[in-house]
Amino acid sequence: MIKVDLSGTYEFFGEHSPDYAAAATAHRTLEEGNGPGAEFTGWLSLPEKMAGAELKSVLSASEKIRSHSEVLVVVGIGGSYLGARAATELLGPVCKDRREVLFVGNNLSADYLNGIEERLGERDFSVNVISKSGTTLEPALSFRVFKSLLEKKYGPQGAKSRIFATTDPVSGALRTMANEEEYFTLTVPGDVGGRYSVLSAVGLLPMSVAGIDVSKVTEVAIEQMRRLDLRSPENPAWQYAAARRLLYDRGKIIEIMAYYEPDFRYMAEWWKQLFGESEGKNGIGLFPASVEFTADLHSMGQFIQDGPRNLLETVVSFEKSNTSYKVPFDLLNADGFNYLAGRDFDRVNKTVAEAVKSAHISGGVPNIGISAGERNETGFAELICFFEVACGVSGYMSGVNPFDQPGVEAYKKNMFKLLSETAEHNA
Ligand code: PA5
Repeated sequence: MIKVDLSGTYEFFGEHSPDYAAAATAHRTLEEGNGPGAEFTGWLSLPEKMAGAELKSVLSASEKIRSHSEVLVVVGIGGSYLGARAATELLGPVCKDRREVLFVGNNLSADYLNGIEERLGERDFSVNVISKSGTTLEPALSFRVFKSLLEKKYGPQGAKSRIFATTDPVSGALRTMANEEEYFTLTVPGDVGGRYSVLSAVGLLPMSVAGIDVSKVTEVAIEQMRRLDLRSPENPAWQYAAARRLLYDRGKIIEIMAYYEPDFRYMAEWWKQLFGESEGKNGIGLFPASVEFTADLHSMGQFIQDGPRNLLETVVSFEKSNTSYKVPFDLLNADGFNYLAGRDFDRVNKTVAEAVKSAHISGGVPNIGISAGERNETGFAELICFFEVACGVSGYMSGVNPFDQPGVEAYKKNMFKLLSETAEHNA
């Protein structure tokens, strides 16, 4: 169960309180589908829609991949990769029967590509190419590379049987190619934008190959979406959306997500895309950033404690770690830490988090606590649904369309122009 702790924010609210009436209106707009971008709110019922044939299709693709591949290479960028990477990094390490999942197509680095090829070595692999449009530069170019590696290793027919395309159900360049080449295809639903697609085949196939129980993820997500439909200030999504909105109005324009589990890094990256791309438009929006504690306390701690007071901190934690490790006793005790000997690292971690919270609050940084239950399929699915609903509500509260990304087109126009100009020069 997700719990939002706003106790670290109250002193920053002044005489105001979170606007739950506005949250209620925004939630109604979202549910009734009469706000801007309503045609992309299919994610609200995505887990339910996934539960039947689509999930079967994911499981059957996963079984096929696992039967003949030691590694799955996932090609995708943005919403077509961050959720899957977040899940595999958070849950993969604790999965028993896992396969390695490598991510490409999220940059244009030759060194990165060579590194992945080296990591693959002689191992058997399959490719899951994920792109709604099929014309995104980075995944398209990387797909060429790994398709050609597959063809070299398994021949053209063998390669085809190892390519799994996740794309638009009817249109787009990748759909056309997949149909022509007869790849195994899975669907990015037409009414779900990239950054809201992790609970579709986009996220579920790589997750399943990694050994994550995606039936459980879907089952929990169905239940969580029902719970998050609660129309009351008790709704944790409202609490989060309304508190950060009020803090934004009071000058806290940067939201830092902090976490104490290094494997949470890509969850924070996923969150940054979700909120950044959904809310940062029309000249407004909280800038989403992230820090990994305790490591970043030794680099960014100074800034957070003492820099410009326009920050708010959102700390995501799990009830307890999945494993334990005790601090060893040391005869020399040169560091003076024998008083911690025998204590679990997780307890030390949580005690440090408490100390950091009060220090940052007294330094002028409001603190929103999000407790995510257990670090497993349940905790993951609950967190994803929570942030998605909070983001939809928050976007409508701030008066933007949380489901488009018009700003992304500007650089693309320049980029394609320059790339084609230089192609002419090369010719
Ligand atoms: O959220 C989004 O819409 C984007 O991040 C896209 O997912 C990303 O640009 C990749 O697009 P595509 O799936 O068409 O390759």
